[in-house]
Formats: sequence, C-alpha cells, structure tokens
Amino acid sequence: LKAVILVGGDNKGTRFRPLSLDIPKPLFPIAGLPIIEHHIHACSAMSNLEEILIIGSYHINEMITFLNEVKTKYHVTIRYLQEFVELGTAGGIYHFRDQIRAGNPECFFVLNGDVCADFPLQQLYDFHITKKDALISILSTEADRVESVNYGCIVTDKGTGEVTHYVEKPSSYVSPLINCGVYLANIEIFPQIATVFYSRPKNENFSGNGSGNGKDQGHIQLEQEVLTPLAGSGKLYTLTLNMKWAQVKNAASAIYANRQALELRRKSHPEKFSDQFNCTIIGNVFIHPTAQISETAVLGPNVSIGKGVIIAAGVRIRESIILDDTFIDEHTLIIHSIIGRKTKVGKWSRIEGTAVDPDPNKPFAKIKNLPLFNTEGKMNPSTTILGHNSSVASEIILLNSIVLPSKELGRSFKNEIIL
Ligand code: GDD
Repeated sequence: LKAVILVGGDNKGTRFRPLSLDIPKPLFPIAGLPIIEHHIHACSAMSNLEEILIIGSYHINEMITFLNEVKTKYHVTIRYLQEFVELGTAGGIYHFRDQIRAGNPECFFVLNGDVCADFPLQQLYDFHITKKDALISILSTEADRVESVNYGCIVTDKGTGEVTHYVEKPSSYVSPLINCGVYLANIEIFPQIATVFYSRPKNENFSGNGSGNGKDQGHIQLEQEVLTPLAGSGKLYTLTLNMKWAQVKNAASAIYANRQALELRRKSHPEKFSDQFNCTIIGNVFIHPTAQISETAVLGPNVSIGKGVIIAAGVRIRESIILDDTFIDEHTLIIHSIIGRKTKVGKWSRIEGTAVDPDPNKPFAKIKNLPLFNTEGKMNPSTTILGHNSSVASEIILLNSIVLPSKELGRSFKNEIIL
C-alpha cells in the first residue's frame, strides 16, 4: 500500500496570495501543522503503508526542510517527485507510474493536498477491498444543493456504493454527494489512464507544438478524463461519510479549515492543547510551545499561534492564524485575519476581516470563493491578510484588506489591497 499526495505548484497558489509568496501553499500551517502534514500523519497511521509520494511542481528546495522533518518525525519513507510542468491530477500519477508500482503494491491512496479532514483511510481501505471489481473508490460527503456544484458531484447506487454518474463541477445541480479529493486506486488504474492518453485526437494542440491549449501533452485530469468515463462501468465506487472536511483555496477557507482541523486535532492529540499558558483561552486554540503570551490576553475560539510569536497584555484574538515570529502589541484586537511571519502590529490596533462566518454545524466549508472585487469595483467581504515582514503602527484600523509583504502601515485602511 502506498499514498500519493497531490500538491500542484506555484501557479495553483494564486488565490492564496500574498500568503503563498512566503510559504508554498501545501506547507501553510493549519491547526499548527503544515497542511500536508495532516495527510502524512493520517497515512503513517496505516500499518501496511510502505511509502508516501508527494507529487507537485514546487521546486524541491521549497520542500526539502519540511521533508527532512517529517521523515524523522513519522518514520515513514517519503519522497518528493517534481513535475517540471503541471500534468493535472492524473497526469502526474501516470508520469510517475513506475515509482508508484515499484515494490508491487496492490493499491494506493491519492489525496488532494489542499483538503483538511480526519482522513478515514482505514475505512476507505476496508470498503474498497470488498468491492471486487473496483478500480478506484472515492471518499464522498454530503453538501447542500447550492454548494455542491463547486465540487465533483457523484450519483450512486446507495445499496452498493457504485458510482453510476460523475460530473465535475456541473453547471446545475446533479447530486448532493461531493468528491472529497481522497481516493483509493488499484494499480490496474494505469492502463485506464493510458487509454485516455493514447485516445486523444492527433491534432489536439498542446503547448509543446505552438498555439495549443497551454497544457502539456501529458496533462490528464483524473476527474473529467478518468472518473467520468468510469462511472456506470461497475469499476468506480464511493464511500460516503458525514464528516468534518474543508478545502483550503483562499485565505477565508484557511480560517475555516483551521477551525475544523483544531477540533479534530484536539480530539486526537489533547496533549498539544494542554494548559501551559496562563492567558484566557476560549474554545479550540493551538499555541506553539515557544510562543510567549501575556496572562491578560484572551484567545479563541479557533486560533492558531505559530513558533516564537509574542502576544502582549490585553490582546484579543479570535478566528485567526498568527504565523511564526510575529509580535502583537498591547490591547490589539484581531478577528478573522491571517498575520504573516515576522510581522509587528502596534498597540490598540484593530485588524479585522469581514468574511461571513460559515455555519459551524455544516460538515464542510461554505465559504464562497468570491472574486476579490464586486461589479462596482469594491472589495467583496474577505479575510484580512497581513503579508510577512509588515509592520502596523499603533491605533490603526485595518478592515477587510490585504497587505502585501514588507509594508509599513502608518494609517488605517478599509476594503483595500495595499501593494
Ligand atoms: N501534482 C499535481 N499536478 N497536483 C495537482 C495538479 C497538477 O497538475 N493540479 C492540481 N493538483 C492538486 C492541487 O494542488 C490540489 O491539491 C488538488 O490536486 C486538487 O486540484 P484542483 O485542480 O485545485 O481541483 P479542485 O480543488 O478545484 O477540485 C478537486 O478537489 C475537490 C475536493 O477538494 C476535484 O477533485 C473535485 O472533484 C473535488 O470535489
């Protein structure tokens, strides 16, 4: 048994700017761990897992420190396989098929690198092996009618879990069951992907031969090109679970994923949430042990505080992520915001995002990927982001704004992007 984690590359992180200018998106901390460390943690708990392969087009130098850390921490073989051009969600897997097939594993997990969940991998494995003809099984969950069309939609035979129809991001409602971006595939999936590759019309234009569609010849989408044709063939199955699940696409969804992941991590690792800080803590709050927090600060719910952060007296933070080595001075208020690394926020300031708080009872993120600006050219409600190395003077109000790295803010801003 192996696992593949798909992490994409830099051009996939554009909705995540300016945060992705400093940290590759797969390494952005959610509930105190880089996003894909949650995946690695779940995979390492599978006793029969031989190897984890991370496939993406980030340069290896951006991943190396993280890889060395997780290899030691989880005692599992982890390798990074770099795509030199983006090959799509099945193209990379196909390109590196010999690496996946090495050692003759029977099957392998495929995990989208931008989802946050409890990853019920054992359940998916137990489900998949009972389906004798299954080539691939998808983990699915239920979404509401309106939200479902933003995902891969699945129609299933409820009794057997066989997928009879699969439509990726349909233009109108198809089914409330959505693809969670977690799969278990048999090794026999490769001939299926090869069929897609070789059946392409010869005159299809690719980037290699001039004015094409901008995609590499080997670019293959798992969802549209493999899952959709497999539906109804008796080889595609789905395991539906009602579970905590979130996707990290933009800053607002990172806040929501942080909320979900904090709850899951607190259950699985209560020791990481021990009462070693004397400040007031409300709900789920992760504080890195190296942070220094004043006793009079009030944190939570749903806050993650990174390495070496200093939080002074009277500070109030909720629904936010504070990245490493940042200093928040006295009596500042931070709500629905992400504060980048090595940033300094002065006294009595107010940093606030206005993104609509999603319903906490929903099993997955209901935050829309709203465009940055509405039709009148005004910024849509969003999460306030302070890029790394910025500094904010005292008594500043920063409302629904995005600040690029290394800025010095000496006045207040509302609904602005500060370049
Ligand atoms: N290695 C590699 N190469 N990874 C890729 C590539 C690629 O060319 N393209 C995308 N990925 C990675 C992304 O980084 C992300 O982690 C994951 O694959 C999903 O890719 P997206 O293209 O962003 O798809 P999506 O999130 O809009 O939709 C997919 O995920 C949803 C669940 O999170 C689909 O699978 C949907 O059906 C699904 O509901």
